[in-house]
Amino acid sequence: MPGCRYVPGFLDRSAQHDLVAALRGIVAEAPFFTPRMPRTGKPFSVAMTNCGPLGWVSDREGGYRYQASHPETDRPWPPMPDMLLEAWRLLSAYPHPPEACLVNHYRPAAKMGLHRDEDEEDFAAPVLSLSLGDTAVFRVGGTTRKGPTRSVKLESGDAVVLGGDSRLAYHGVDRILAGSSTLFGDWLPGGGRINLTLRRVTRP
Ligand code: SIN
Ligand code: FE2
Repeated sequence: MPGCRYVPGFLDRSAQHDLVAALRGIVAEAPFFTPRMPRTGKPFSVAMTNCGPLGWVSDREGGYRYQASHPETDRPWPPMPDMLLEAWRLLSAYPHPPEACLVNHYRPAAKMGLHRDEDEEDFAAPVLSLSLGDTAVFRVGGTTRKGPTRSVKLESGDAVVLGGDSRLAYHGVDRILAGSSTLFGDWLPGGGRINLTLRRVTRP
């Protein structure tokens, strides 16, 4: 689909290690939390945190939304590391900085159902995704829930840009290939995958 770009190996191994070091600092300040589905309160299988001025959260009462503070500590999200801002400059083709970086931790059994990222005000900016750790089977379709989908294995260091016509494409993660990466070493017991999604939330 036009505007959907897959960039395998965008981050080399050394950049991946630098990003893991930055993430350790972010998670120390803003621990992973378990988001819950609106209305039902069912927990996601993915744990989340954020960095940047805004963060994406979800719970039974408030539903999907962006807010400036961590839902459990009430502290502001840590700043976005420079290397993420640089990745956005290189790949987004959008003139304003991202406001939110959602950090998703997939344990080996975690997955994410097909959905669209539509809680932002500005769909002119793409969503930029960076993958670290275990490989994921990522599925992407069109802008309706029905239509055909394709799947691609996202490995550590790969980037995906959902922009243009693909900005509102359905996408999700079918499964994680447990143990496919050694990137996290002794951080994150049980390993798994971390996916970062950078978004512009408000209209500049
Ligand atoms: C997401 O849709 O928020 C995450 C996608 C991914 O994990 O690759
Ligand atoms: Fe998404």
